[in-house]
Amino acid sequence: MVWARTRCGNRPTVATLARQETYQFRQRQVNSDQMLKTSADPQLQGPSPEVEAAYRDVRAQLDPTAAEAWPALRRRLAGLMQEGVQAKDFQKRLAFIEAGVRLTLEGQEDESLFVLVQMLSDRSYGYSATHALTAAAICLMIGPQAQIGEPELSALLRAALTMNIGMATLHDQLALQTHTASESQKAQIRRHPDAGVDVLRQLGVDDPLWLNLVAEHHEAPDGSGYPLGKRELSPVQQLLRMSDVFIARISPRISRRGLWPNVAVGNLYLEAQAQSSPLGAIFAKHLGMYPPGTYVRLKSEETAVVVRRGERVNTPVAMAITDPDGMALSTPRKRDTQHPGYSVKSPISPEDVKIRLDKARLLKRI
Ligand SMILES: [Fe+2]
Repeated sequence: MVWARTRCGNRPTVATLARQETYQFRQRQVNSDQMLKTSADPQLQGPSPEVEAAYRDVRAQLDPTAAEAWPALRRRLAGLMQEGVQAKDFQKRLAFIEAGVRLTLEGQEDESLFVLVQMLSDRSYGYSATHALTAAAICLMIGPQAQIGEPELSALLRAALTMNIGMATLHDQLALQTHTASESQKAQIRRHPDAGVDVLRQLGVDDPLWLNLVAEHHEAPDGSGYPLGKRELSPVQQLLRMSDVFIARISPRISRRGLWPNVAVGNLYLEAQAQSSPLGAIFAKHLGMYPPGTYVRLKSEETAVVVRRGERVNTPVAMAITDPDGMALSTPRKRDTQHPGYSVKSPISPEDVKIRLDKARLLKRI
């Protein structure tokens, strides 16, 4: 397989519906938070020189298939996050990961979502870095749909990858502990946006947009966020928040089950509508109600895993992995849920699916 150089085409229904809302959205973006204004410096248009240079290394060192690339990028990012302020060559290593995210996603959006969403519920992968990579991938997929271009997109991507660097160890720990956060953990959670900025500054980061996104990634449009309780969020901040919240809500923890993806997407859509923001609609239309990697029960009573987004938000393409009696199929069967006999009956929590998938093999059958 070779790296695809053209970005995956947007499915017509998504693009058409999203376009209807982006003009008004762009107008609002122009008037958004002064701290997040686009620089006019043409040198900054497009990925940074570090990332451009890293493309060559990525092509030489990273297997281009989604099934191999995302776990490899996760290992690299987890190492970097754990090293924190001690990390050597931080910006170079992060540029490799950013370049890897960009190249792996090109032409492989569905495959990438499939692998990343599957990784979120697999405890053999650490949670924090998987969460960060998934957030970066979603921001990179949806940002252009929301008319977010460079250099904001680069800063958004780096912020998604590093937003929890102020509590990387605790982030992994919280996903695995059986009890809710202790008082001292809650205090650390509340401090982590500012702590993350401190770590990034010590590592040489001075991009105000990147730092601002990390500092305010837990602010919420209803004022319930922290540390400032700020209500005015720019579109870039809104997209980072939506990606972060969506991933956190659908990811199962030992202490609680994940929220069904259609409920998580629906809640974010309604939240955005309440703020007169079109970003919820763009988010829902681009990800769908059942993103790749999530499980569904079909009208046929088969259990299936979603492998591609479909023509409509609620008609993904899936692979049946059990028969109607719940018996595992030795060879998964492709099901287009647009077909009335295979329509989605309900989501299924990953904890309720006991079949271990061979992701690489399954992706080859799509
Ligand atoms: Fe966070």
